[in-house]
Amino acid sequence: MNARPPGCRICRFVLWSGLILLLLISIAAAIRFLPDRPVTYNDPVEHFKYGSTGGERNMGFPFWLFQVLPEVCPDLLPGKGYQSLGFIFEPGHDLPVGMSKRRHLGIDRVFLNCAVCHAATVRTTANAKPMLVVGMPANQLDLMRFQKFVQACVNDRRFTPSQVVPRIAEKAGGLSLVDRWLIYPLGIHLMRDGVASLLGRMRFIHQQDEWGPGRVDTFNSAKAIFGTAFEQLPKEELIGVSDFPAIWNQAKKQGMQLHWDGNNSRVEERNLSAAFGTGATPKLIDHAAIARIESWIGSAKPPAFERYYRIDRALAERGAPIYAQHCAACHGRNGSDFSGEYVGKVTPIAVIGTDRGRLDSYTAQLAQNQGMLYSADPERRFRHFRKTWGYANAPLDGLWLRAPYLHNGSVPSLRDLLQPAAQRPVTFYRGNELYDPKGMGFVADQPSSQGRALFAFDTRIAGNGNAGHEGRGYGTDLAEADKRALIEYLKTF
Ligand code: HEC
Ligand code: HEC
Repeated sequence: MNARPPGCRICRFVLWSGLILLLLISIAAAIRFLPDRPVTYNDPVEHFKYGSTGGERNMGFPFWLFQVLPEVCPDLLPGKGYQSLGFIFEPGHDLPVGMSKRRHLGIDRVFLNCAVCHAATVRTTANAKPMLVVGMPANQLDLMRFQKFVQACVNDRRFTPSQVVPRIAEKAGGLSLVDRWLIYPLGIHLMRDGVASLLGRMRFIHQQDEWGPGRVDTFNSAKAIFGTAFEQLPKEELIGVSDFPAIWNQAKKQGMQLHWDGNNSRVEERNLSAAFGTGATPKLIDHAAIARIESWIGSAKPPAFERYYRIDRALAERGAPIYAQHCAACHGRNGSDFSGEYVGKVTPIAVIGTDRGRLDSYTAQLAQNQGMLYSADPERRFRHFRKTWGYANAPLDGLWLRAPYLHNGSVPSLRDLLQPAAQRPVTFYRGNELYDPKGMGFVADQPSSQGRALFAFDTRIAGNGNAGHEGRGYGTDLAEADKRALIEYLKTF
C-alpha cells in the first residue's frame, strides 16, 4: 500500500469544510428563496378581499417597496397615502382591500386582486361611519392615477437604493444584511424594469383623458397585455372607459351575455379573463383560489336598501306595475328573479343610443386573441367571447349601489337617468361615498367630501357621453308621480 502524503489531510479538511459550507448556504438560500406561498383566508369574503389569484408572481411589487412609495414620492399623490387614490384600509390590515400577498423568490410580493375594483365604502348619512360593501363597484378607486403614480415614482430620481432601503429598514424595524445589500437593491432595479415594461405597454392611458374614480378602460388594457401597437388602431377603438360593475348573484347570470357590451356569456370565462387582468396568466393562475371566489360571487347578495333607509311601501307598490310594463322584459322581473324575454341579451347601439366608445373598443380581433389565451388547456380555452353591436340588458340587483349609472358611469342618479338626456347633469362629481337615498345615487353636486377632493366628471369628453336609454320604454317620458313610484320600487332591488 502506498502511504498518502501527509499534506493531504489538510487538503481534505479544507475540501470537506468547503463542501459543507456550500451545502449550508444552499439550504439557507433554498429556505429563503424557494417557498412560493400565498397568504390565504378561510372566510370566503376575507379571501375575496385579500386572497391571491396567483398574479403576484408575475406583476407583484415587493411588499416593502409598495409600502414606502407614498413616502418616497409624497408630492406625486393627491393627498396622504394610498387612501388619497381611493384605496380602502381596514383596521388591522397592512394592505388595502383588494391587495394580496405572496412569499415568492425570497420576498413578500403584493398585487391587486378582484376586490380592488369590486368593493367600496358607503356612508348612509353624513355622520355615519363608512361601511365596506363587498361586490359593489369600487366607486372611489382612481386606478389611472394609481398607475401614473407608480410609474412616476418608480422612474423618479428618488427611487434609488440609497434613498429607499433606509426607509424600508425603518418601517420594517430593521433589515438583515442580505435584505439590505442584495434583495432590496435588486428589487428596486427589478421593479423599475417591471413597471417600465408593464406600464410601457399601457401607454395608451397617457393619450386618454382622466378616467376618474370607479372606472377603467377594460379592453384596451387587455389589448395592452397582448402587446397591441396602439398607434396602428383606428381612433374609434381607443376610448373604452367603463364603470366597474357589481358582481353579485353571478350563478343566476350564467348563460347571459354580460360585460357591458355582452361580449361573453359564461361566468367562468368572465372570471378567468378578469383574473388575467390581475397578472394571473394561464401558467400562474391559482385555479383553486378562483374557484373559491367563483363560488362566493355565485351566490353573494347585495345589502338591502331597507336595512339603512325606509321604503315607502305603498308608493313602491304603485311603481311595481310601471316597472313590469316598461322595464322587466329587459332587466328581469325584480331584483332577485332575473327572468325576462330579453334579459342577458344585447340591445343594438342604434336602439339604446348610449355612448359607443366602450362598444367600439372591443373588437373581433381582440376576441380572437382571447381565444388563444388558454389554447394549451382545451377545457378552459375561451370560446364565448364575441364582438357585439350594442349593450347588454343586465339584471338590476343591488341597483342602489351601482350609481353612477350606465356603462360609462355618466349619469349620477336614478332620478337623472329617468330624465331625457338633455336634462341630465352635464358635469357632476364622482367618488363620493355619501349616499343620497332620494335620488338613488351618491351625492354628486359637491366638489369635496370630508376633506377629500372629488373628481369633476365631464360628459362632453369623448367616451363620457350621457345620452341614450331614453324615450318610450325607458321611463324618461313617464309622469313625475310615476317616476317617483318607479324609483321607490327600484329601492327594493
Ligand atoms: C382593474 C379592475 C378590475 C379587477 C381587478 C377585476 N375586475 Fe371584474 N370587472 C371590471 C370591469 C371594469 C368590468 C366590466 C368590464 C366591461 O364590460 O367593460 C368587470 C366585470 C366583471 C364581471 C362581469 C360582471 C357582469 O355582470 O357583467 C365579473 C363576473 C367580474 N368582473 C369578476 C371579477 C373577478 C372574479 C375578478 C378577480 C379575479 C375581477 N373581476 C377583477 C374591473 C375589474
Ligand atoms: C330594450 C331594453 C331595455 C329597456 C326596455 C330598459 N332598459 Fe335599462 N338598460 C338597457 C341597456 C342595454 C342598458 C345598458 C346601457 C349602457 O350602459 O350603455 C340599460 C341600463 C340601465 C340602467 C343602468 C344600470 C347600471 O348598472 O348602470 C338602469 C338603472 C336601467 N337601465 C333602468 C331601466 C328602467 C328603470 C327601465 C324601465 C323604465 C329600463 N331600464 C328599460 C336596456 C333596457
